[in-house]
Amino acid sequence: MHSARTDTVLVVGASSGFGAGVAAALLERGYTVYAAGRRLDRMQTLAARGAQVLRMDVTDAASVAAGVERIIAAQGRLDHVYANAGYGSYGMIESVSLEEVRRQYDVNVFGVGRVVQAVLPHMRSQRRGRIIITASVASHVAIAGMGWYASTKHALDGVATALRQEVAHLGIDVVVIEPGMVQTEFDSVALDTLKRTDHPEAYHRLVTGFRRFMEAGYARGPGPERTVAAMVHAATARRPRRVYRTTMDARTLPWLRTLLGGRLFYGIYLAWARSLAESGR
Ligand SMILES: NC(=O)c1ccc[n+]([C@@H]2O[C@H](COP(=O)([O-])OP(=O)(O)OC[C@H]3O[C@@H](n4cnc5c(N)ncnc54)[C@H](OP(=O)(O)O)[C@@H]3O)[C@@H](O)[C@H]2O)c1
Repeated sequence: MHSARTDTVLVVGASSGFGAGVAAALLERGYTVYAAGRRLDRMQTLAARGAQVLRMDVTDAASVAAGVERIIAAQGRLDHVYANAGYGSYGMIESVSLEEVRRQYDVNVFGVGRVVQAVLPHMRSQRRGRIIITASVASHVAIAGMGWYASTKHALDGVATALRQEVAHLGIDVVVIEPGMVQTEFDSVALDTLKRTDHPEAYHRLVTGFRRFMEAGYARGPGPERTVAAMVHAATARRPRRVYRTTMDARTLPWLRTLLGGRLFYGIYLAWARSLAESGR
């Protein structure tokens, strides 16, 4: 029987953050690791440790298909895939350009779709495989300022929920990773777009409060270690969990939102953001 130690893994979005951590951890455990992303230079350390590096842009179906075909040609199989590429583009719903929204969907939602559709024919014929999707606490809560990003992660929740049912009888598991605020390169990208977005004066207080809330959250947030450990567990455990909520905020916020109801939960956030905006901090 095929043994876990020789399993072949594709990590999409391996050039930094969670993906880089998972790729390194699985290499250490003896897995055959393919690390994919757009920035090849950022995956050289992984290559030096034995990873095969693939240039892959998830917005380009041909580059996704070529990467998967290369793995199948070399290994004859693909056991686990991390559909982990994603980015945030923060700003008010009215102000983020729909072109930018489309780009975000192209990476966060359709990018996952391209990866999933490229690997499934192989996993189906193997009758074995794990698809591990990085969603977010933002799959369940959406505070003012991150609406478009949260909507992409809400969409992934629906995709993963249906996909899990569709492929379970084929021996394929679907696992969802839901981190909260974690220190990676994610926050600088997301907050950069917030700063570059022009907002009408009417939103300035909300934007300032949101920015301060997020900056403080990321500054206090944990490093990627626990999320990486959960992602490794998702591939290595005999029976992985369906969903891993990897940080304190990811565990508590969806629960609080249900407990308090949306009006109170988001009302508390708005009052908090207002006071942060007025505090000058
Ligand atoms: N950090 C957080 O607070 C947090 C919380 C919840 C969920 N998440 C999710 O976690 C996932 C990983 O993010 P991270 O925190 O590790 O951030 P990160 O350090 O910015 O890493 C993002 C990764 O995604 C890749 N990527 C972005 N666009 C891509 C594209 N078009 N094609 C291929 N790869 C692409 C990047 O590689 P290249 O730029 O080299 O292509 C990079 O390797 C994302 O889906 C994010 O939404 C993060």
